[in-house]
This record gives sequence, C-alpha cells and structure tokens, in this order.
Amino acid sequence: MNPNVRYFGADYYPEHWPEERWPEDARLMREAGLNVVRMAEFAWVKMEPAEGRFDFDWLRRAVGILHGEGISCVLGTPTAAAPAWLMQAHPEIYRVNEQRQRATFGARQFMCVNAPAFREASRRIVSAMATELGAHDAIIGWQIDNEFGSLCYCDICQAEFQRWLREKYGSLDALNDAWGTIFWSQTYSDWTQIPLPWATSGGANPGLYLDYRRFMADSYVAFQRQQIEILRKHSPGRFITHNFMGFPKDVLDYYKLAEDLDFVSWDNYPQGGAPVDPVAVALSHDYTRGMKRRRFWVMEEQSGPAGWGIMCPTPRPGQIREWTRQAIAHGAEGIVYFRWRPARFGTEQYWHGILNHDGSVNRRYEEIKRVGDEIKRGDIPDSPPDRAGVAILVDCDSRFALQAQPGNPQFSYFEHVLAYYRALYDPACPIDVIPAGADLTGYELVIAPTLFVLTPQVAGKLADFVYRGGVLITTFRTGVKDEFNRVVNEPLPGLLREVCGVEVAEYHSPLPDEPNWVRGLVPQLPSEPTRARVWLDVLRPTTAEAIAEYVTGFGDGSPAITRNYYGSGKAIYIGTWVERQVIVGCDPARLEL
Ligand code: GLA
Ligand code: ZN
Repeated sequence: MNPNVRYFGADYYPEHWPEERWPEDARLMREAGLNVVRMAEFAWVKMEPAEGRFDFDWLRRAVGILHGEGISCVLGTPTAAAPAWLMQAHPEIYRVNEQRQRATFGARQFMCVNAPAFREASRRIVSAMATELGAHDAIIGWQIDNEFGSLCYCDICQAEFQRWLREKYGSLDALNDAWGTIFWSQTYSDWTQIPLPWATSGGANPGLYLDYRRFMADSYVAFQRQQIEILRKHSPGRFITHNFMGFPKDVLDYYKLAEDLDFVSWDNYPQGGAPVDPVAVALSHDYTRGMKRRRFWVMEEQSGPAGWGIMCPTPRPGQIREWTRQAIAHGAEGIVYFRWRPARFGTEQYWHGILNHDGSVNRRYEEIKRVGDEIKRGDIPDSPPDRAGVAILVDCDSRFALQAQPGNPQFSYFEHVLAYYRALYDPACPIDVIPAGADLTGYELVIAPTLFVLTPQVAGKLADFVYRGGVLITTFRTGVKDEFNRVVNEPLPGLLREVCGVEVAEYHSPLPDEPNWVRGLVPQLPSEPTRARVWLDVLRPTTAEAIAEYVTGFGDGSPAITRNYYGSGKAIYIGTWVERQVIVGCDPARLEL
C-alpha cells in the first residue's frame, strides 16, 4: 500500500452471514485491494451468549479466513450494544434521559457508562476478547466501543456527579459560591441535594449545567480508559482508536477522549438527507485531525445510499472516490468503508454498503476497486502539512455553555465556526482546527469564534500571540463567562478587552427577519450595507478603530467591527453575524486565499 494511506478496507459483520460465505467475501475484498476490516463491535451476544460463557471460535475462524487473503483486522470492543441477558439481570444499567425516562431494550447505546454492573460486564468481555485474540497476527488494532455520545441522567450518575463535584470543589461553600446558588434559594447544605439538570426541573443553574456536561465528558473518558488499560495489557503493540462522529455531533469532549488514544478516527457520511456540503465535511476532517494534531482514520466512509426507514440519495458515480480523496487530502491515513454488504435484517437493512444485499458486486464495488488501485499507484492528493498557517479555535466549555444558552435561537456554535471555516476554505490552503488553549506558535492568523467561556490561560495565550505579531479574529459573545459559567464582572469582551481595544456598549438579540445592516468604513470591506444577523454588539472602541458600522437598523452609526494594533500584531473584533465577503474583507491580506 501507499505509505500515506496504508490501510484501505471495509466494516465487516461476519456474524450476519453464513460461514460458507466468508471465504468469498475475503476473496472479493482482496480483489478490490482491501487490506483491513473493522469488525465485532456489535457482536457481544455472539461472543458471550450468557454471562461468563464465551465463544470466540467463530471470530477466530473469520479472522483466519481474512488473514489468509492478506487482510488485517481492527476489532471493536462491543460495548455499544449490550445483550438482553445483561439488561434483564441489571435493569439499572438502562440510561435515563433528561425527561427522566428510562431507556428500554430494542436498539443500542441504551447503557449508562457509570453503572457499576455495566462497567463490570464491559471489563469482562473486553478482557476475554483481548486475551483470546489480542496476540493474533492479524489483529493490528482496536476500536473502543462505537460513536460515544449519549448523556445519562440516572440516579447512579447523580451520585457520581456529586462525588465528582466534591472532588472538584472540596467544600459546599466553594460550590455554592461558584454556582451562585443564592439565586432562587438553591444553596446546598448537603452534597446529596445536588440534582442533575433534568428537564423536569426546568432551566438549570448555568454553573451546574456546565459542570454536568464536563462530568459526563469525564465519565466517558473513564469508561474508555478502563478498556484501554485492559487492551494495553493483553494486546500489546496494537493501536487503540475510537470512531468519533465529526464536529456537529460532539456532545462530549472529544479532545479529552483523544488524549488516551493512539490516533483518532471518525465516521464520515457526507450524503445525508440534504445536498452534500463538502465544506462541512472538510471541517469535520480538520476537527478530527486537530484532536491529536496528527493523521487519522475514517473508520466508516459512506459507500452506498444510507438510511434506516428513509434512504438518502445513492452516491453518484465518482462520488465515493471524491469523498475518499477529500479525506486523504485532509489527513486520513486509513479509509474503511461502511459497510461491506448491507444487512438483510435489523434496523439498518437500508444502510447500504459496497455490495448488494444478495452479495453480488456492482458499480460501487468497481469504483472502490479503482480507488484502491489509485492509492497503490500513489495517485492520491498530498496530505496536509504538520502545521497550517491558519488556525480556528474550538472550545468545548463554550460549546457546552452555549447549548444551554445560545442567546439567540438562530445561533449555533457549529454553524458559526463553519461560517468562518467556509469563508477561508480553499482546498489548496489547509486550515488547522484546534482546541482553544493549544500552542499557537507558528500561526499567522488565528480565528476564535465566540469564545464564550474564556479562562485567563486561554486569554493570556491569545494576548501573547497577538503581541508577538499574530492576527486574531474574534467574534461577538466572546469573554462573556468565566470558568464557572458566571457572567464576568467587567465590560465585554472581558479578558480580551485590552487586546481588542474595544468594549461592548450594548447588545441586541434580533428577531429572525429584522433588517439590520453593516457597512465597511475601510476600502477592503463592502461599503454597500450587508446583513447583520443573529446577534449585534454595539461597540465602543478604546484603542481600536472602527472598520465597519451598523446602518439604519439597530445600533445605527455605531461601530460593528473594530481593528486594534496590539504589540506587533492586531486583533479584529466582529460584533455580529456577517456575510462571507465581510469576514474576508477584515484582513484580505491573510483571508483572501
Ligand atoms: C454509525 C455507526 C454504525 C452504523 C452507521 C449507520 O456511524 O457507527 O454502526 O450504525 O452509523 O447508521
Ligand atoms: Zn447514568
């Protein structure tokens, strides 16, 4: 295989097909140039049909057949779908949702990662899998679980949350102070009084809400770590990864989860129910690459029409190839198509893969085979450099806090980041998408959209970056909250006031069709009014100059965008949701790629 894309394969479910078919599958895979499969991540009940009774013979036979055709295996730990026998014995494992409804059996991901019985059962199956197969020559790596991302609001989680808070705050006085529980008489006098942000109690305290989201994120880190420790012990020398879901679907803290993994992977389904947005796909690729600042795998790459009850459009001829090349251009070093053959039964009957239901090959198989040939020949796009010139900063705390309090119903953190990414997007000029707080050395331009929760550490890094000659672009609702999700006790943008040389005099959350406008005051920005939507900060420059102002609508005649020279760099503050040409005009020298 090509040194840049060493693995090229499919997600394979031998447990869905008669064993007589497996050799044929392996042969067709080899003929298509596939050299890896991911499997077993939903096969718990076949590997452990009853508590403590294991059967790995079938899996060993499948691995052996694949290996015989030169195909390596990534095994998924099966903890995303627990068997009925486990759930019957331990109904307390069922996840509880925000409305305090308990999940039931029937789909997958209905388990609470904090439930001791689930932890114990997970430990048992992962240990058994790792000791049985972890040293097999064909096994090159592991995927932990599948697409982490369900929050739980059960009593076990509540007790764990209370324990987590006790560790974090040490005393109830500190917690009460941090959360401002005097509001509505919420002051806690015993740890066990502290609730979860259940929907049934309505609008949670923002401090509690943010800590709950951090706690859930940490719960998954601990759950994943338990499995990683087992695998490292019993299956040394193999990589460990997880298949994330891309930027918009991250409800946990992918950055923290990524720390314990050798590399990260993600599942890329560009064609959903809407027209494909290649720029949104690119953002998720870059978000994934930024998690560890290294190359990644696409563990599920769409290879057919997808859907459960409704199907999305079938990939047009050439489209799977395009998606694959785009992934490679953004840093994918492994491409695994979902799935080898669509299931004849089960919820995902319509989630098509490479082959037809009847196992025959088709034009998608032929296309993938061609892509495999191209990879072998090295006819693939270059992978991105180790460091781009531009970075976009993403912040989990801000995302969590904004999900509870977006400020305006039209505001979406993801869409906001995407708007800036889109403004800069040019396949020839890579962008790094990295966590706020990352080292900024070497970047010329850093874009930090809505750093809502801003800590002194992050603000300090940004100030330093600008001082040393960098260009920072930041936007409305930056610096509003401290780390406890309290509004700061100073004019906005809080800790970035001096760097930006500006204060927010007042702000306005407009109605959807409200006619508000900005116009440029410098030649680089459009002098004709363009729309100002979603949020309007009316700015009062201290040391900055206004480079755009509001006209006719709210804030008429007041600064809307400012530019401040600070040290040897500059900071641009964009006070409203602007059109693309306005973003680009803010610093055409760097933005007009
Ligand atoms: C996800 C999962 C897969 C499969 C596909 C299609 O990405 O990881 O197991 O369910 O979606 O729904
Ligand atoms: Zn729970």
